[in-house]
Amino acid sequence: MNIQWYPGHMTKAKRAMKEDIKLIDLVIELVDARVPLSSRNPDIDELAKGKGRMVLLNKADLADERQNEAWMAYFKEKGLHVVKVNARSGMGLKQITPLVQEACREKLERDRKRGILNRPVRTMVVGIPNVGKSTFINSFAGKACTKTGNKPGVTKGNQWIRLNKTLELLDTPGILWPKFEDQQVGLNLAFIGSINDEIIDKEELALELLRRLQKGYPAQLAERYGLEQETEDPYVILTQIAQIRGCLLKRNELDTKKAANLLFDDFRSGKLGRITLETPKAAE
Ligand code: G4P
Repeated sequence: MNIQWYPGHMTKAKRAMKEDIKLIDLVIELVDARVPLSSRNPDIDELAKGKGRMVLLNKADLADERQNEAWMAYFKEKGLHVVKVNARSGMGLKQITPLVQEACREKLERDRKRGILNRPVRTMVVGIPNVGKSTFINSFAGKACTKTGNKPGVTKGNQWIRLNKTLELLDTPGILWPKFEDQQVGLNLAFIGSINDEIIDKEELALELLRRLQKGYPAQLAERYGLEQETEDPYVILTQIAQIRGCLLKRNELDTKKAANLLFDDFRSGKLGRITLETPKAAE
């Protein structure tokens, strides 16, 4: 299946990101725990060169816990500080501040040697669309924060949120662009709902997803829909789902499009269970 991308404002986003990154000490990169590689931007290492780095495995509540652990180990091995979070509920957020100090240790050490003491670490959140950047900023900053910046006489610029004595956060996240030239990445992002559904044939996409679920999570799939007939054919599975769930057209024909939508609603909301579509093993 061929996914068409329209990376209209990519160049603009990249330029804005380069400017913002100059202002900060530490990059907090959000990825989607269900597809941690596909939801990453390939240029981030280059863009964030010389900065402290942290990866947040967000939407960990929707991903397979065993794979969450495997991905944590993967990122740690790459020398990145990593925390598993649920930006919606706040799970994991408490672990971030102490880790920031560790992630910026070299920089803080340099500051200390130059006599700069107690300057807060400046950080920004980056990630591709829909990974949960705004949700994270809202949960992490909470209500207790005070906004700084935008002083009178100064050109309207970035707003900083002072989180505590040691940490300031840029209040607008950096938007990264995915690896849109890679079809597998496109598919993975379409599965999790990060690509406008209207440009995609949902039924065809559902068949791709069923293929993947059948391979990785057959029991969860069978249990959710009460599938009994043994088959590997995703179209047969989709028609079974339509049948079992009563997705019918006028003359009692099976409405596989409706079944496809149902499958996506279930998958994306976690009703199909916690599922990860990319493993670190496959990534290697
Ligand atoms: P963005 O700024 O990176 O574009 O993402 P945003 O925060 O808008 O989040 C995209 C969607 O992901 C939102 O759902 C948000 O609630 C959800 N989300 C963010 N973090 C998590 C998480 O850790 N776990 C889960 N389960 N969901 C998360 P939405 O349906 O678009 O909006 P809403 O229904 O929450 O209002």
